[in-house]
Amino acid sequence: MPTPITLLSTLISRLGIRLPLPLLLLSMCVSLTAQAQQPGRTGPEIVRTSCYMCHSAHGNNPDLAFIPRLAAQNPVYIKEQLEAFRDGSRADPPATIYMWPIAQTLSAQQIDQVAAWFASQPPPTPFPPGPSASEGKEIFLHGILKADVPACASCHGPKAAGNGIFPRLAGQNAQYLLAQLRYFRSGVRNDKNADIMKQVAIHLTDAQMSAVADYLSSL
Ligand code: HEC
Ligand code: HEC
Repeated sequence: MPTPITLLSTLISRLGIRLPLPLLLLSMCVSLTAQAQQPGRTGPEIVRTSCYMCHSAHGNNPDLAFIPRLAAQNPVYIKEQLEAFRDGSRADPPATIYMWPIAQTLSAQQIDQVAAWFASQPPPTPFPPGPSASEGKEIFLHGILKADVPACASCHGPKAAGNGIFPRLAGQNAQYLLAQLRYFRSGVRNDKNADIMKQVAIHLTDAQMSAVADYLSSL
């Protein structure tokens, strides 16, 4: 099911209004900020009022490829990322525009609650495999010996389900995955555990990053 943001942007483009999507999202994000601040709001309520329009209530958003799916993501990882948006250490452009304002409004307890909500949702529906998925599978399972790239599976698990600080990657949007690999490589994503990924990403070419993203989104 399309998220409200997609419906709204489709409507706007049908009406011929040329409002850049990032600006539209930003304005909505800022107006949502006030809602999440209300004390006493629990995880599911916050998700229904503040997160669902981008991530969908069950974290299985099929569209808007730069917005990550959160369904079945590890609670420890979700929590650390929300803290990284709050303290500004995850500083890639989409993070600063979309997630910094909203993360500021969440209390530590609310972070635990939204993490538990998304973690308990069924895994996201896989996408059809992208064009270089078979090359990506090779890299994921075995790494690239001559380029010093370890097998991704050694940390993210054989089915990319993740564990603890290692995020689930299975069924994630390919475009989002590719963008994050580039942010690790450039160092703009610099949160607590980002250096572990930087040491991997600096050895990958853009084509290898795309290949592994093509594979992971189909799991
Ligand atoms: C206006 C759209 C928007 C809203 C509303 C929104 N998000 Fe996000 N969220 C994003 C985008 C875009 C990213 C990707 C940021 C990046 O590329 O670094 C993201 C990333 C995340 C991540 C990191 C996921 C990962 O795999 O690293 C978490 C966790 C998250 N959001 C949780 C939430 C929660 C909880 C809420 C509600 C309180 C929320 N988001 C509301 C757009 C949104
Ligand atoms: C040594 C362990 C390790 C290996 C090997 C590893 N990763 Fe990671 N990966 C991590 C950690 C830890 C994080 C979380 C970083 C953070 O919190 O910012 C992560 C995060 C990621 C993310 C961000 C996910 C999101 O939702 O934003 C992507 C994409 C990713 N890894 C892809 C890969 C790929 C592709 C490979 C193989 C080429 C790989 N990783 C190999 C440890 C590893």
